[in-house]
Parts: sequence; structure tokens; C-alpha cells
Amino acid sequence: MLKLFPSTTQIKKSHLTIGGCDTVSLAEKFGTPLYVFDEATLRGKCSEYREAFEKRYPNSTISYAAKAFLNRPLAKLLAEEGMGLDVASGGELSIARSIRFPMSKIYFNGDNKSRQELEMALRWGAGRIIVDNFYELSLLNDIAGEMEKRPSIMLRLSPGIDAHTHSHLTTGVLDSKFGFTMPQAEESLTRALSLPNLNLVGMHMHIGSQIFELKCYQQAIDIVFDFASKMSHKHGFKLKDFSAGGGLGVAYEQTTKALSISDFADMITGEVLKKCKSTGIKPPRLAVEPGRSIAAQAGVALYSIGSMKDIKGIRKYVRVDGGMADNIRPSLYGAKYEAMVANKAGKSHDAKLERVTIAGKACESGDILIKDIDLPRLESGDIVALPCCGAYCIPMSSNYLALPRPAIVMVRDGNARLIRRRETYKDLMKNDIT
Ligand code: LLP
Repeated sequence: MLKLFPSTTQIKKSHLTIGGCDTVSLAEKFGTPLYVFDEATLRGKCSEYREAFEKRYPNSTISYAAKAFLNRPLAKLLAEEGMGLDVASGGELSIARSIRFPMSKIYFNGDNKSRQELEMALRWGAGRIIVDNFYELSLLNDIAGEMEKRPSIMLRLSPGIDAHTHSHLTTGVLDSKFGFTMPQAEESLTRALSLPNLNLVGMHMHIGSQIFELKCYQQAIDIVFDFASKMSHKHGFKLKDFSAGGGLGVAYEQTTKALSISDFADMITGEVLKKCKSTGIKPPRLAVEPGRSIAAQAGVALYSIGSMKDIKGIRKYVRVDGGMADNIRPSLYGAKYEAMVANKAGKSHDAKLERVTIAGKACESGDILIKDIDLPRLESGDIVALPCCGAYCIPMSSNYLALPRPAIVMVRDGNARLIRRRETYKDLMKNDIT
């Protein structure tokens, strides 16, 4: 169970501790729901990725996918770790810019970037713009002309590969809203080459998220490199940059066998080098864009147990003070989570387990965080900790029911630093005009 939690997690006197901090004390001090991020796990994942790729393929960039979770302190940490950043909106770009994240290391993705967002990217000098579609090609060319710039662009290709993940999370299939389909790819390339204000440097793919099959990356890389090779012979195109996207799956449950970062690095770099050899393409700069596999394990959500409802012989609901407003993933994707009772952790409590369903506080029958889990007998006031909540919870959270968004703390060596304060009721009303 502990392996789902951050690397520094321990059980001390029946309490769960992370980064040397007692989570029960954290809940008391900062209130719940509380998201706790472990700095050592975050930095550890960044260096694991960097080292795994650098040693196999020195000309590589690990570009963290901001959408998994980004705020200013995290952006600073990523910059310190020498990471690149994949942003997908003007907002993410602004967060990066606000802490002086090196703009040359920014990859700007997105399938419907606005004129304003593209102008920001050009003004601030974002390193690579990943062009998704024909509309964006000509819009960006026009904007670049007006601003007298010539941005480096990559084309987002949708190689037509099914990554066998949740249907909401697959992006490389033919019937996808993302990128140029392979039948459109040649036209996108010749058009990009002909546009005077764009500097076409490479290709990008991202076939999906929460992926456990490496073979689909292999197939997609083959398709992109075969295409690049054909375009090199036909149109003199040079593939200087290639991004294999993100998507490496992580374990949310103890029974899941996740792939390691080095398995992923082996496959991506091995296949790229193999294809370079067979096609005669000079090895391009290689980027990958992991989000979940860096942030997920580092984050733990803490909730307090409030009311309960025991329907004899059917189900016992225990309700927490958060739910779908701060973590929509179970309701949206049927995502499964595990949990530990932070103040009743360890062997002495395992003897008296009880099956419960953890429900959120929203007025929705679907607001269930975990259906049927065996936990030590719960009482109101207990603190439940959900592991693997560092990715795609906070960024997809809402103010449903006018619930303020949770506070976030970063823990390290026994110290807890607030990195986002809890929203207040005043915050909820600040944009209203009466
Ligand atoms: N690059 C691009 C272009 C992406 O669209 C994404 C994720 C990533 C990289 C990072 O993928 P990752 O390594 O995190 O799998 N909300 C969903 C996940 C949506 C992923 C969207 N794109 C969830 O909660 O599971």
C-alpha cells in the first residue's frame, strides 16, 4: 500500500507521515480537504526522467506537462530541476513566465490556441509551438508576420494508433480531435514549408494518457519516422526535433503493475535510434512530455470524515469534506483510488476492517470517491488519505456547490510550506458584479 504513496511516506505511532510531517497534524493545522505534495518525490521523478533519457539519448528534453498540475512554486521547482515545460494555454504560459521559467524550454501545445495566446507565445519567445491544424498554421503565420517573428514550429501528428487506455484519454487514433491525421500530414508539411514566417523544425505526437503498453509508442514512432523520411526525400524536410508526448501510466491501485520510467526511456530512445538508423535520419532533439508520471505519486489528498449512513446489509457510506469538486476523476473516468486512515495506520488497526464507500459532499449520487473499500473502523473526525492525487485533481477541480478549493502544502524534511492557500468565501464572490 505504501508504494502508492510518496517515497518518503512512513507510519509512525499509527500515523501516516509524509516528508517527515505527520499528516494528522497537517490536517489539523491547515484544515481539510488538504493536498500534500512531497518535494522529494517530485524532484526524484524529475531526475529519474532526466537521467533515464540523458544516458540513453543525450540530446533530450523532459518537458513536464503543466496540465497535470502547475502553480508558481511548482514551476520554480521544475525550473530548478532543469525541466522543460509543456503548456497548453495562455494561463499555463503566464504562470511559467511569472517565475521567469526559461522560455526557450517551453513547448506550446493545444488544439485551439487563440490569437491572443499565440501572440503571447511569440512575444515571450516560447521555444516551440506545436501546430495542431491548418487554421492554426495560417493564423500563426499571419501573427508572426505582423510581429516580425519566425517561430520554430512542430507539427502535431495523429498517427492512427490506439493506446488502449480509457476512451477519454486516447488521442492518437484517426477519430480524434487532436493533430493532423496521417492522410493530411503531407499537406500540413508542404504548407508549413511554404509559409514564410514559420520555421518548421519537427514533428510531435501524443497518443494518450495512462498508457501501460509500450508497443503502441513503438508503432506510432515508426509511423512518424517513416513519414519524416518520405518527406525528407520528397521535400528536403529535416527532422531536427521530435516529441514522443507523454502518457506513461501510473499505479493508482496496489494490484496495478506499472511500467518504470526506465522501461519507457528504453522503448522511446531505442525505437527512435533504430528508426534513425534504418531511415538515415540524423537523430533529432528528442522531447517527452510526462505529466502524471511525475506529479501523481507525489500528491496525497487528506479528507476528514463527517457523517455516515449505514444501510444494513447493503452499504455503509462515509462522507468526506471534499469529493468530486476537488477530484472529478472517479466520476468522470470511473478512476479507482485506494485509501488509508491517516490516524489509524499500521498493523494494529488492520485486524478490525470494515467495508465502506467513501462519498463526497456534493449533492450528486455519483459523488463517490471510492466504492467498497476495507478500512479500519471509521469514526467521524478520522482523516482519510488518498494516494496518487498529485495529477489531474487540483487542475480539474471546481467550485461546485460554491465549495472553496483546497489548500496545498509542500512537505520536505519535516517542514510543511503552504504553496496555495485555501480559497475563501470571499474569493468565490470576488468576480461577481452586483
Ligand atoms: N502532452 C500532451 C500534448 C498532452 O495532451 C498530455 C495530456 C500530456 C503530454 C501529458 O500526459 P500524461 O503524461 O500526464 O499522461 N485528465 C485526464 C488526463 C488527460 C491528459 C491530457 N493530456 C486524467 O485525469 O486522467
